[in-house]
Amino acid sequence: MTHNAAEEMISLKQQVEILKQQLAQAQRLTALGELVGTTTHEFNNVLMTILNYAKMGSRHKDAPTRDKCFEKILASANRAATITNTVLGMARNRSSGQEPTDLAKLLDNTLLLLEREMNKYRVVVEKQYQQIPLAMVNGNQIQQVLLNLLINARQAMANGGRLWIKLLYDAQNDMIDLVVRDSGCGIPADKLPKIFESFYTTKKGPDASGKGGTGLGLSMCRDILETHHGRIRVDSSVGKGTAFTLKLPVAKTAPKTAAPIVAPVATPVSPTPMTTT
Ligand SMILES: Nc1ncnc2c1ncn2[C@@H]1O[C@H](COP(=O)(O)OP(=O)(O)OP(=O)(O)O)[C@@H](O)[C@H]1O
Ligand SMILES: [Mg+2]
Repeated sequence: MTHNAAEEMISLKQQVEILKQQLAQAQRLTALGELVGTTTHEFNNVLMTILNYAKMGSRHKDAPTRDKCFEKILASANRAATITNTVLGMARNRSSGQEPTDLAKLLDNTLLLLEREMNKYRVVVEKQYQQIPLAMVNGNQIQQVLLNLLINARQAMANGGRLWIKLLYDAQNDMIDLVVRDSGCGIPADKLPKIFESFYTTKKGPDASGKGGTGLGLSMCRDILETHHGRIRVDSSVGKGTAFTLKLPVAKTAPKTAAPIVAPVATPVSPTPMTTT
């Protein structure tokens, strides 16, 4: 290779590196944009609940009613705090550091953000969490992965459906499996290899909730799983549904549990009273 050709090669490599970084930034902003859209609606919902109970409390002078109103206000305010903390955390924390993380909690916080949306599109969420060790992950990044998988699933079920979310410990590989399965339209076999490519999308731009359509979601998921030395797998059947399985590393410092199977809890998301859509 001539001196010039070698230099050109280096400069091309640098350009690829810069473009990769820009792509990662675009992926991050897409995820953040979706999160902000979701949380603004959700936050408004919580505020309405607080307002309604505050009004009720000021109208009724008896202690039991007022106690009940305060309880509701407190619960809603806590919910609002969780929601804003999630967004602030994601916006601020750009570190790629990984730490022992409770995936069940992370999942619950993420589902909380999408509760209203799932209700609106008549998606019933069923959770089955086994007892699992802590995972060694970057919580923000895994939350971005979850948001994309959950929103994809919701969008695949235009007329409502079911969403199963599972957490289990794969003792053989010492990994944690996180499964997101939907009863949606499914993906044709010939399209499956394409879905992880950047900009591959079958959506015609953002839907009525302002989500989807850039085709960056799953490529971001794949990149994030790669930096975690994890894996992402998809199984799909047209007309029946799709399941994405994430394999995530166990935090080595955490005491390992034998992961006894606890009775699965089916938790259909039911509409909260006094909410708006
Ligand atoms: N659960 C699913 N059910 C059916 N099809 C899916 C599912 N998840 C992904 N897909 C298909 O894979 C494509 C790529 O998904 P990806 O998340 O990368 O992009 P997107 O959702 O179209 O846009 P973005 O996530 O960037 O807003 C989707 O357009 C859709 O065709
Ligand atoms: Mg998507």
